[in-house]
Amino acid sequence: MVTPWLEKNPRAAKALKFGRDQQFVVNPNGIPELCEDLKQCPRHAATPLHALPALAGRLGLGELRVKDESQRFGFGAFKALGGVLAVYNVLSGAVGDAYHFSTSFADVMSGKHKEVTSRFVFSTASSGNHGRSVAAGAKLFGNRCVIFLPRFTSAEKEAAIRARGAEVIRIDGDYDTAVAECKRRSQENGWTIISDTSWEGYDSVPRSVMRGYCVLVHEAIVQWPKGPTHVFVQAGVGGLAAAVIGYLWAALPHRPTFVVVEPESADCWFQSNLLGKPALASGNADTVMGGLACREISPVTWPVVGEATDWFMTIEEDQVLPARRLLAHPLDGDPAIASGPSGCAGMAGLTRVCTDEAAFKALKLDSHSRVLLINSEGNLGEEPA
Ligand SMILES: Cc1ncc(COP(=O)(O)O)c(C=O)c1O
Repeated sequence: MVTPWLEKNPRAAKALKFGRDQQFVVNPNGIPELCEDLKQCPRHAATPLHALPALAGRLGLGELRVKDESQRFGFGAFKALGGVLAVYNVLSGAVGDAYHFSTSFADVMSGKHKEVTSRFVFSTASSGNHGRSVAAGAKLFGNRCVIFLPRFTSAEKEAAIRARGAEVIRIDGDYDTAVAECKRRSQENGWTIISDTSWEGYDSVPRSVMRGYCVLVHEAIVQWPKGPTHVFVQAGVGGLAAAVIGYLWAALPHRPTFVVVEPESADCWFQSNLLGKPALASGNADTVMGGLACREISPVTWPVVGEATDWFMTIEEDQVLPARRLLAHPLDGDPAIASGPSGCAGMAGLTRVCTDEAAFKALKLDSHSRVLLINSEGNLGEEPA
């Protein structure tokens, strides 16, 4: 142990190959084509990959780049890539089963196969962003949608989900309680769950959600051919981390050093690393980082996140606001970036490491390091930056 908040992964070896078990979680095949197809969508544009040379210098690094998902589709978070695609995959799969031909996004959207697609009611539990994405997908394809929200999700996020035509059921409990209630009610009613987390016997939909996230990783590789030496990625259940780690591992000639960042009270990956298998968070997941407020990991992601993350770390609640400020009010010449509490968690993790000599050394960071962060959500009006 370097510090109580930073722990090495004893299973991660650089020689480890991206194999079948990893490809089951994140399949890199077809992602460039998916990015091409997305260009047909009028609202789609690759999100910026900002360079922050002044901050890189201040932190003692060579380069620092931030993939800015606050600009995704006018949606404000990377989650837009997952839910919509997963809803489409269920509907197009049903059309394929019925007629033995493959359909298109445009055809499903226009209601061409209504007799097959309209019977689906979609549901999910969400801390906000994923629910908004599933609601957007259901609206696009004309389906009913029910979203289960935990107690802490903001009124703004609930309003944004309702504005997309979905029904909202508030659960008097946390995210994991909302997942359990969503499972129960969906089974009773025959609804199709579009979850971003997996469980025993349920992994196909979460894998298609992660496939959507791979779009942002592919864009980053195209935007930065030299690629990172270090990646700090925040985790809730681990879907984003799996897409980032898995796709970069498969696509780059040298696997970067991967660091997974979590809130102290929602450290399910940190604890799982210590135990060597999925474990519960040590705290009650009461955190301002709503998107990361998970007590359990998504087990299907283990062969990627559990095996190839080099370091797991946690951050404290009072490190969130300074990280948001650092992005919003940058040093001379760096671009300003709007981030939400979960969006800036990677930055909070990086600054924590860069201001601790032992941690900085342990991660082999220096003035030649090239660091990638994901600003996974913008400032969605939850609190002032
Ligand atoms: C803004 C934001 N960042 C990161 C995450 C973490 O993603 P995952 O739960 O896939 O680890 C979430 C999840 O909701 C989120 O909303």
